[in-house]
Amino acid sequence: MSRANPSQPKENSPFTPGQPAPPEVFTGRTEEIKRLRRCILQTAGGKPQAVFLCGERGLGKSSLARFGEFLVLQDNPMIPTDVKFMSAYNTCGACKNVTDICKIVVQNLTAEISEESRLEKARKLLARYIEDITVPLPGFRLNVKLKRSPEELADLRLNLPDIISDLWKIMQEKKKGIMIVLDEVNGITSQPDFANFIKSVWEDLGARHVPVLLMLVGLEQRLTDLIEANESVGRIFDRILLQPLSKDDVKSFFRKAFDRVNLCATSEAEEFLANLSGGYPVMMHELGDATFWENTDDTVDKNDALIGVVAAAQRVGEKYFSTQVYREVQSDSYRRILFHTVAETAFPGEIKRSELQESLPGEDAKTLDNFFTRMVSLEVMRRKRLGVYEYTYPMFPLYLCLERKIQEAAK
Ligand SMILES: Nc1ncnc2c1ncn2[C@@H]1O[C@H](COP(=O)(O)OP(=O)(O)OP(=O)(O)O)[C@@H](O)[C@H]1O
Ligand SMILES: [Mg+2]
Repeated sequence: MSRANPSQPKENSPFTPGQPAPPEVFTGRTEEIKRLRRCILQTAGGKPQAVFLCGERGLGKSSLARFGEFLVLQDNPMIPTDVKFMSAYNTCGACKNVTDICKIVVQNLTAEISEESRLEKARKLLARYIEDITVPLPGFRLNVKLKRSPEELADLRLNLPDIISDLWKIMQEKKKGIMIVLDEVNGITSQPDFANFIKSVWEDLGARHVPVLLMLVGLEQRLTDLIEANESVGRIFDRILLQPLSKDDVKSFFRKAFDRVNLCATSEAEEFLANLSGGYPVMMHELGDATFWENTDDTVDKNDALIGVVAAAQRVGEKYFSTQVYREVQSDSYRRILFHTVAETAFPGEIKRSELQESLPGEDAKTLDNFFTRMVSLEVMRRKRLGVYEYTYPMFPLYLCLERKIQEAAK
């Protein structure tokens, strides 16, 4: 369909693939937000809380954690306006050890202090660790850098509870609590001392009566790993496990998103996109964004959605599949099996080992066990039950189907 005025440039896409959802885009998660709200109010009332926010990749863990942070930083209808926290949102993906984590926690917490008199106290408190504090233009966040060398930071880990407690003393007249988010803890949880570190920091802060809301964010298995390393960690954390969003939430997400840029989506298009997203926010944004850019008029109908889906499948394939799988999996046999799973349909649903075993040529059938193990470890598939698997996202088989057709056409 042609656009009413094709020369008019398109507005920005209302979708944010690759970025945590801003509060105005954030959809659903009502129950989880209620639980976060309760944790915030409890902490503000002097009862520290620890939450492990977990779920599969792309389900919106970071977005929900950011939303939790928004609740304690900005005025909103859910939390009384006088309940504001100092907050440190720490992305720990690049942290190699516990000291790295302590470093970013201290940097991010200190960066919350804006008045000069309080900052002076923090400077004195942290004098031996601080490399530089840059005071920005009014309204901007401080830039706090701690020293780099491991020797200079050697005892930071031991002193962390005291430092947090002292930073709290500096700020307690103004705030009701501290929120510390450790996001992307997937790598660091494999370090044997991380579980002990978390437990001792938690207990030490409790003993110092610091009203802290500690939130760890990662895959569910990582909490299991932590509990294996230190059993008592299981008792510390209240677990919030994210599931895919409901169909209604997804449809309302598409409706609101298109509406924000004055586009109207037909219910057929919404339904189609919602089904293909599988309720995974990461896929909702990829599908919505691709459809937005492919659409040429004021209405997103099923046809536009179809074209968008093909573009999205290509993108998803490149971003989440090819790089992950093809780089790691050099085996032609595995590729043949992948293509075989989409030979009859782009939406295979359950993939049964026994059926593949029968229908694949002998040499490929022999590698099936290794194939499934590898696909699960690469997070391309998940095991539903014994001998039955499914693709992690419904967009993966669709991408494979397109790839298969492209390769066949090229032959
Ligand atoms: N509740 C939501 N409403 C709307 N969009 C969302 C929601 N949650 C997440 N998103 C979007 O989905 C995508 C993935 O979200 P996010 O990065 O928060 O997931 P994640 O679980 O932290 O992923 P990862 O496991 O890769 O860290 C982002 O584009 C984000 O904007
Ligand atoms: Mg994340």
